[in-house]
Amino acid sequence: MENNLKNEFEKLLTELSEDSSQAHALEILSEKFPGKLIFSTSFSYEDQVITHLIKNLDIEIFTLDTGRLFEQTYETWTNTKAFFKKNIKAYYPDTEEIKEFVTQNGPDSFYQSVEQRKACCTIRKVHPLKKALQGYKVWITGLRSEHSANRQNMPQLEWDPDNKIIKYHPLLHWTSEQVADYVQTHHLPYNQLHKKGFVSIGCAPCTRAIKEGEDFRAGRWWWEDANKKECGLHIHQ
Ligand code: ADX
Ligand code: SF4
Repeated sequence: MENNLKNEFEKLLTELSEDSSQAHALEILSEKFPGKLIFSTSFSYEDQVITHLIKNLDIEIFTLDTGRLFEQTYETWTNTKAFFKKNIKAYYPDTEEIKEFVTQNGPDSFYQSVEQRKACCTIRKVHPLKKALQGYKVWITGLRSEHSANRQNMPQLEWDPDNKIIKYHPLLHWTSEQVADYVQTHHLPYNQLHKKGFVSIGCAPCTRAIKEGEDFRAGRWWWEDANKKECGLHIHQ
């Protein structure tokens, strides 16, 4: 089963490399794998563009509600659901796992060490992600190469060995301006925190606004070294 999917992935690589339009690639993927594509949204600018690109395609959408998101992110979720008239599946951390972790370490232990922070991300994001991807063959994300050094050499279509799924990043090579223009032109709902200097938005206690000239991800886990700033969703173990 895994080998078959990997073979299909190899074939797709050649087919899709001959066509550069993201909208067309998404169409091809949804025709090849009916009911087997899933898109993860955090309601970022990029994710709003993708939601618009796939609105008429047979592609499910899910979000990981960590329980620590900003109020403005929940508002964006509500507005997105109303705007696109589409259900967005919500996934949550396992109650027992989070209960044990918070009881032992307190609610904000992510500030104490990288290990504690990663443990929190694993429970609140990575484990729910595994549940969300089950039964699907292609996982669509809003990753862009401008986001971070780790993402600069990432292929647009890749095999994710941890989740045993094909991963596709339609906006990988888009610039921030292209994304913002698309959101404006199509009057898409967006997170109001963007107006207050927030660029990359994750959980509330782990995200701050950035100052002019700072890196795209400078506001995420700002107390850690820049090269440790991934939560495990997009890093292979
Ligand atoms: S993270 O790894 O640092 O948290 P980032 O915020 O850059 O990720 O978002 C990149 C992509 O990961 C998003 O476009 C989305 O596809 C996915 N993603 C991130 N956070 C979530 C979330 N809470 N729920 C669903 N998908 C998410
Ligand atoms: Fe926990 Fe912060 Fe990771 Fe959210 S971003 S899961 S609050 S450590």
